[in-house]
Amino acid sequence: MSKDFKRYLITSALPYANGPVHIGHLAGVYIPSDIYTRYLRLRGRDVISVCGSDEHGVPITIKAKKEGITPQQVVDRYHAIIKDSFEKLGISFDIYSRTSSPVHAETASAFFRKLYDEGKFVEQTSEQFYDEEAKSFLADRYIVGTCPKCGAEGAYGDQCEVCGSTLSPDELVNPRSTLSGATPIKRETKHWYLPLDKYEQMLREWILEGHKEWKSNVYGQCKSWLDGGLMPRAVSRDLDWGIPVPVEGAEGKVLYVWFDAPIGYISATKELTPDWEKYWKSEDTKLVHFIGKDNIVFHCIVFPSMLKAHGEYILPENVPSNEFLNLEGNKISTSKNWAVWLHEYLVDFPGKEDVLRYALCATAPETKDNDFTWKDYQARNNNELVAVLGNFVNRALVLTKKYYDGEVPTCGELADYDRDTIAELSSIKASLESNIENYRFREALKDAMNFARIGNKYLADSEPWKLIKTDAERVKTILNIALQITANIAIAIEPFMPFSAAKILNMLACEKFGWERLGAMDLLAAGHHIGEPSLLFEKIEDDVIQKQLDRLAEIAKQNKAAEVKAEPQKAECSFDDFQKMDIRVSTILEAEKLPKTKKLLKLTIDTGIDKRTIVSGIAEHFSPEELVGKQVLVLVNLAPRDFKGITSQGMILMAEDATGALRLLQPNEKTNNGAMVG
Ligand code: 2FM
Ligand code: ZN
Repeated sequence: MSKDFKRYLITSALPYANGPVHIGHLAGVYIPSDIYTRYLRLRGRDVISVCGSDEHGVPITIKAKKEGITPQQVVDRYHAIIKDSFEKLGISFDIYSRTSSPVHAETASAFFRKLYDEGKFVEQTSEQFYDEEAKSFLADRYIVGTCPKCGAEGAYGDQCEVCGSTLSPDELVNPRSTLSGATPIKRETKHWYLPLDKYEQMLREWILEGHKEWKSNVYGQCKSWLDGGLMPRAVSRDLDWGIPVPVEGAEGKVLYVWFDAPIGYISATKELTPDWEKYWKSEDTKLVHFIGKDNIVFHCIVFPSMLKAHGEYILPENVPSNEFLNLEGNKISTSKNWAVWLHEYLVDFPGKEDVLRYALCATAPETKDNDFTWKDYQARNNNELVAVLGNFVNRALVLTKKYYDGEVPTCGELADYDRDTIAELSSIKASLESNIENYRFREALKDAMNFARIGNKYLADSEPWKLIKTDAERVKTILNIALQITANIAIAIEPFMPFSAAKILNMLACEKFGWERLGAMDLLAAGHHIGEPSLLFEKIEDDVIQKQLDRLAEIAKQNKAAEVKAEPQKAECSFDDFQKMDIRVSTILEAEKLPKTKKLLKLTIDTGIDKRTIVSGIAEHFSPEELVGKQVLVLVNLAPRDFKGITSQGMILMAEDATGALRLLQPNEKTNNGAMVG
């Protein structure tokens, strides 16, 4: 039996403020949490949804260092971008806070302090890497070296980005500090640990026995962590960015980001309402954490242990976590820019917020990793939103305008087909509710769209446009029902596509309905005047999609180029060897393709010494026209060679880049022909 809760507290994983939000975050966390929250609100439940930026942690300090700015500047920039783009997509948090807020610092410090005072932590001294020149302990990310697995240079102390291996700094060959370049040494340091092993039994009972209904991916991960045995976890770090550890003798130490971030949910609630304790400290509250799969252990094992250790807080009732979304067959990667960024989408596709919400919900990786493709996005828009939803709503409204000047006609006696249609609609309602309440949002979206599918079929089967000539009374009933279905759609799709729901209500000239009205056939009174119909969705053309695909192709090309390793250095040459080569700045005067060859161009060159002919095998890379007038570097004393009966006197210097394209080597400014290189 599921318990009846008096109120709901919905949290969504706090995104790191070291980059913008992308479609993977949206499909995994924020769209599901927003659908759930909007649904509960529509049902009139007492619900709050909290989120905010996660502004601590090492990656933020690294980004700041790279850009020569402060960590605060980094988080200010991304907090603003993330907050703004969530708002524009209609993600309706009741508060979007940030972990650099003073309320959060106080809340997290007080939380730590209570556990500390009550002896809930274990103090342990361990050896950590230390940079003697920079006088700083080094987080794993601050140590680089040669990867022991693949030999790549620049592998990090926690991971090699070339071969993907997880590493520890001890494994790196020739480790160096990124702060000073010095070789790190080991130095003793004291930290506070939360003894997770002490909470193992509680967690077993609570999750493995008490929450068998959790999604199998979440339950499975928890089980394997618990079966593997839990160990104490450090909750502090030697770092200068974060919330200072609030005890004496902890100078230079801050709370570990994964200790302070989930407390951010509590601080955000505190900032939102003076009633915050009601949400966090009452068994009548249903606490639900929406997260991505990489966050499961922190939300199901670590944070609940923290909450239990504290003693005053409730535990989550569910932790619906999604798998990962890929993009065009490849893993989304922030560092490789392989992503569709929300703030960019909003600029490229103005007015299409609901299309993204729809496409991402429909492809959400609920049970396994899933793939977002632009072609699928286009098909969902054109074949589903335009052809089904938009088409039905438009037909119902336009016919009402046409036949009744926008006045809702009276519903006469119902035919069997009308009754069947209405019964079908009410059966969907139950399925829609059950799917949302059980976090099956893809199925729920199909249910919501079924209102439009049924409406479309109803109109297509009833053919009011034909009947109007023979049975005008019957048409009134048909259109009354079609309009009631339209109003129902505005309720059913609101959690998924709030902008379109509002647009439908606006076109119907009526106020928002509560969820309890879903399925009702008297939402619009006969005689009510509807507003002006306009298109809900518009077709997305191929060229718009192609532009996005071209952008990704360009990124893939750049990534490939970045991955390519340079050829190893050739054997040493002496200065004299080098001196023998006579390289001159020259200008290409004429260029023509050599007949009957694919690759050869015949070039006339002004070397400053003379005008001469060079035959070059570059016809597949350059057209003759683009070469004429260019200054290039020419090895002029290369022994002449014959090509197809033409003597070539020299060689144009070029570089082949990682993509296989040839690049001319040119002086950075125009100079006199004959200028010597060396
Ligand atoms: O994985 C992440 O993006 C983390 N910033 C999530 C934090 S969730 C919470 F605990 F704050
Ligand atoms: Zn490697």
